[in-house]
Amino acid sequence: MSSHSPSPRAVLDGIPAYVPKPPQPPATGTSHRLFLNENPYPPLPSALAAISRAAARTNLYPGIFPDQLADAVARKLEVPLSHVLTGPGSVGIYQQIGQAMLSPGDEVVYAWPSFEAFPIVVRMAGAVPVEVPLTGETHDLEAMAAAIRPRTAMVLLCEPNNPTGTAVGAAELKRFLDRVPGHVLVVLDEAYFEFYRAPDAPDGVELHRDRPNLVVLRTFSKAYGLAGLRVGYGVAHPEIAEALRKCAVPCGVSRIAEQAALAALNAEDELLEQVGRITAERERLREALGAQGRRVPPSATNFLWLPLGKDSSTVAAALEQRGLLVRDFPGTGLRITVGSPEANDLLIATLGGLTPAR
Ligand SMILES: Cc1ncc(COP(=O)(O)O)c(C=O)c1O
Repeated sequence: MSSHSPSPRAVLDGIPAYVPKPPQPPATGTSHRLFLNENPYPPLPSALAAISRAAARTNLYPGIFPDQLADAVARKLEVPLSHVLTGPGSVGIYQQIGQAMLSPGDEVVYAWPSFEAFPIVVRMAGAVPVEVPLTGETHDLEAMAAAIRPRTAMVLLCEPNNPTGTAVGAAELKRFLDRVPGHVLVVLDEAYFEFYRAPDAPDGVELHRDRPNLVVLRTFSKAYGLAGLRVGYGVAHPEIAEALRKCAVPCGVSRIAEQAALAALNAEDELLEQVGRITAERERLREALGAQGRRVPPSATNFLWLPLGKDSSTVAAALEQRGLLVRDFPGTGLRITVGSPEANDLLIATLGGLTPAR
């Protein structure tokens, strides 16, 4: 027997490892999860009812693809069924994109800081990240267009942007898309689409209709409140969509996830009401923090960005002591999910107790 052990692919060296942890004892006191941009409310009642109905059939595999959901998405978005993508969360679709559309050495342009999955998807494929700094807290679309070179295969665009919450308007986005050569795939991640309600907000599904190089991703994890079930969707023109489906994990979307997503899709009024509550809380929080002398960029999402620079880790630790668990980007800022009114009140009070410069 050889003494050498099997070697993982070298590209994995550049990817952060997940170290398995023993189960953690439950935290004492109340803690508020404000670090993953989850919806603070339980799933919509109609989704909960669908979950319990589908639970009784978990002895059966789901379909290879969630055909019922794909059909409902196609009808709702008024796109052909052949354009619809699905996956176990939109991160599942990112994996399909990496496998289907990237080759070693391809360059992929994306903004930074932006969605943390971007460098992982790119590196996993052996492709080369080309990171373009934000201008202030917003996409620098001019610089991103200029970063496209002969080896560029893909552009990843998170709009509105995670972690800064900022958005560009439809006209600016269209101008950018028009500058991207047709052979370069653009992935437009609209995970926070439902929270971006401005009249000039872009709608990726509309934009994709006459752009065969555009893939649009959305999710049931945020506004729809189904993060725990792992189901995302999107649209792309048929040649790309077919390639992505070839790389999907068969039966990757569970029956429970599919049925809950279907119910949530059909509960538009309940969804809008909940999104309204979250965006109203977002504005209340932003105003209160502004009144404390903090600069908080306008957000088109369900979270706020506090550009605290070198103070971010100290402030994150102070918040954690009060049970407020936020996402720290050390040296840059904090991303704080809009939580329940109770969590938001506690956040305002705790930040109010710190010196305004922090
Ligand atoms: C921009 C963006 N895309 C995708 C996701 C993940 O979505 P999903 O739960 O559908 O995998 C997130 C989650 O935070 C996100 O911020």
